[in-house]
Amino acid sequence: MKTNSTLNKHHCRIGGMGYYLPEKILTNQDMEKIVDTSDEWIKQRTGIESRHIANANELPSDMALKASLKALEQSQLKPEDLDFILVATLYPDRIMPNTACELQKKLNISNIPALDISAACSGFIYALSIANQYIQTGIYKNILVVGTETLHHVTDYTDRTTCVLFGDGAGAFVVSRNTNPEQGCIYHQTLNAYGEFGEALYISAPGARHSSKKERTTEKKDTCIQMDGQKVFKKAVQILCDTYTKTLEDTGYTSTDIDWLVPHQANERILKKFCKIANFPEEKVIFDIKETGNTSSASIPLSMGRAVEQGKIKRSQNILMIAMGGGMTSGSLLLKY
Ligand code: UT7
Repeated sequence: MKTNSTLNKHHCRIGGMGYYLPEKILTNQDMEKIVDTSDEWIKQRTGIESRHIANANELPSDMALKASLKALEQSQLKPEDLDFILVATLYPDRIMPNTACELQKKLNISNIPALDISAACSGFIYALSIANQYIQTGIYKNILVVGTETLHHVTDYTDRTTCVLFGDGAGAFVVSRNTNPEQGCIYHQTLNAYGEFGEALYISAPGARHSSKKERTTEKKDTCIQMDGQKVFKKAVQILCDTYTKTLEDTGYTSTDIDWLVPHQANERILKKFCKIANFPEEKVIFDIKETGNTSSASIPLSMGRAVEQGKIKRSQNILMIAMGGGMTSGSLLLKY
């Protein structure tokens, strides 16, 4: 089971992980008081029972800091050891400076590059794949990769078709250079986008397109997530299936070579549908939407971190991460943890 990437001199290994979930919890029973919905509907259609919501003065960079410090501690590195910071987020602290620079400041370090990645729910996979390139080429040794979201700011709590889905949180990986792929490496990656599906999932404001409108008014819905749920659902299932098939074709792996699928947690039903179509065993899927909801770019590092903590995912296992999100974007990483 050798893939091209195992022939490289430098390999990208996850050295440490950390995650953060805000204290405040919004249950389905709370949602019943906000919109015309029911615990039963939400559970049945999405698998979600509750979600965490950041408090008013908790910024994406604050949550990123908490997750990053844990990831650094686990990797036995100090902030000064980092060569690059990548932050995936769809709703940054501010338009400028980027959230990665805000995080850099909060980590008390300077003089290294810091970049935000905007690819919605696929953002973390995009960021980790960029980190992988810098490590494989030998340019950088230790990279901090974070997904952090305060989605409650872009959630319209009068729209029952979207507001039950989203939650806040952050997850971070520290990835480091190593020479032995058996001790951890990224075997294979894919990135993709389908711009023609842009209108299925979007936020209008702030943004130049919205600002340049002749008669500019900003209503709540302009600043919140707008979604064609069914369209996104169908495309998400297709992306999961196509990405999985491509990974197997490119690497020669079979489902038995994959110990865990760590997918973006958008909807439990999307994942179950994928398992059925692709004939992938549900027991090997990390389902982690119940207590967190959809946390966009934070969802993969969050669910991976939690699965390791729960003792499900162990070192040396083969993990396939797949994400899909607004854009629409998608990406996957097959790695040895
Ligand atoms: O990270 C990617 C981001 N987004 C996603 O992955 C979302 C993908 N889409 C989905 O997860 C699903 O499409 C939803 C969970 C959003 C909706 O589930 P659905 O099974 O596709 O429901 P639907 O849109 O077909 O709506 C069925 C019914 C409708 O009522 P009528 O027209 O049949 O009377 C909706 O108005 O359910 C109604 N409905 C609700 N009822 C109670 C929609 N939202 C709710 C709600 N509570 N929260």
